Amino acid sequence: MRLLNHPVQLAPLILVVFFGINACIACDGPASAAASNKARYDQFRIYRVFLETDEQVGIMQQLENRSDSYQFMGHARNPNQNLSIMVAPQKIAEITDLMDRFQIQGQVLLYNIQELIDAQELTVMPKGTAPEQFDWTHYFHLDTIHKWLDLQASKYPDLLTVIPLQASYERNLIKGVKLSAKPGNTAVFVECGIHAREWISPAVCTYILNQLLTSEAPEVHDLATNFDWFFFPVVNPDGYKYTFDADRFWRKNRRPYGLCRGVDLNRNFESNWNGIGASSDPCAYDFAGGSAASEPETQVIQNFVKQNAQSARIRTYFSMHSYSQLIMFPYGYTTDRVDNYADLVAIGERGSEAIRNTHGKQYLAGAMIETIYPSSGDSVDWAYAECGVPVAYTFELRGPPESTNMFILPAEEIAPTGEETLAAYVAMLGEARKLGYYDGVGQKGEL
Ligand SMILES: *[C@@H]1O[C@H](CO)[C@@H](O)[C@H](O)[C@H]1NC(C)=O
Ligand SMILES: *[C@@H]1O[C@H](CO)[C@@H](O)[C@H](O)[C@H]1NC(C)=O
Ligand SMILES: [Zn+2]
Repeated sequence: MRLLNHPVQLAPLILVVFFGINACIACDGPASAAASNKARYDQFRIYRVFLETDEQVGIMQQLENRSDSYQFMGHARNPNQNLSIMVAPQKIAEITDLMDRFQIQGQVLLYNIQELIDAQELTVMPKGTAPEQFDWTHYFHLDTIHKWLDLQASKYPDLLTVIPLQASYERNLIKGVKLSAKPGNTAVFVECGIHAREWISPAVCTYILNQLLTSEAPEVHDLATNFDWFFFPVVNPDGYKYTFDADRFWRKNRRPYGLCRGVDLNRNFESNWNGIGASSDPCAYDFAGGSAASEPETQVIQNFVKQNAQSARIRTYFSMHSYSQLIMFPYGYTTDRVDNYADLVAIGERGSEAIRNTHGKQYLAGAMIETIYPSSGDSVDWAYAECGVPVAYTFELRGPPESTNMFILPAEEIAPTGEETLAAYVAMLGEARKLGYYDGVGQKGEL
């Protein structure tokens, strides 16, 4: 076992505890920090382990199965696999012992997740922030994002239409916009924020929309003019709100299923539903739901894309996630290759190059099952296989797989992530156009 042990700093810790108690004795209202019901991650650690043997894989599978004091980023599946695990403080001795006994190599990437959450909170604009104050150096509540979309539609009435889809379990709107500069374009569907905690996704979504509306760069103007665009910045509005109000690490929607809540909407689509890489346990982070498209959020997106796939000529689908720095195309559930595999490899590679050439970040491109892990019922498989959208990608944005921030990407990285992702869009749509995907009816890739 190779654990990087940092010196434990007990003295400052005791001081903090002490002052914390003092502060509470001094305060008389119920609204003190100690009375908050928000989830806290004090002294939670992130471990990165390397699994070499079947025995080690089995141990980690049992650990995930038995205890929700460990949050796995992905599942233990096979030897020769790296895995990030969030470990609750009362389990640090246990995991240290397990890694020692089973000779699992690993290191601690981060010693206190709450510090990261607290630092990011300083960059969250307050509830009720006016849409005129929207920018890409802060994170924003759902309400401000929605008002910003309305503001853009009022500024560009000839280009933008607001699409207020009515459906989330808690009756929040799934608000989107359509951008169309001229008739006859093929359309790009951009789905963001399906996983609540991946805050960079909605931020990049609005960044790219804003660039399409305002940039004078010829290649961006070309995309804005010669494609129609659908942007849905927050497809999981209930979950997104919950990450601000209650638990920064929430991923699913908020519908109750017995003891637990929430369906992983990106496992709920009608494509190999509840197969490999999805769980039928409502308490699991990748719970597939009660049935295919059981969730209102899934239903409205499926219906909208289905209704518009032909009439609005949706030929491209981008699903935006974080983290791991990947550009992935179908399938997630089988190693069978899609018919246009070679084209999708080429288009993905162009995207990865464009990102590298912007700020030097390395993104890996490939089929989903080959690059990340198996998944079933995800939106991109569904759009490709059930809706005939031939150019379909899931992005995992910053940071890298061994990231110490995970979903807590600092706000100063929003703009650079937006820049490199826009560069990827330019390159990928350019390559797909060259390959004939947007040529008109009956073209290559018609499924
Ligand atoms: C997880 O636990 C359940 C019952 O608690 C058991 O049926 C299942 O086989 C376990 N899975 C693994 C991978 O250990
Ligand atoms: C696991 O992580 C190490 C260190 O980052 C890296 O060198 C290695 O290639 C990774 N292995 C796999 C299978 O991803
Ligand atoms: Zn995700």
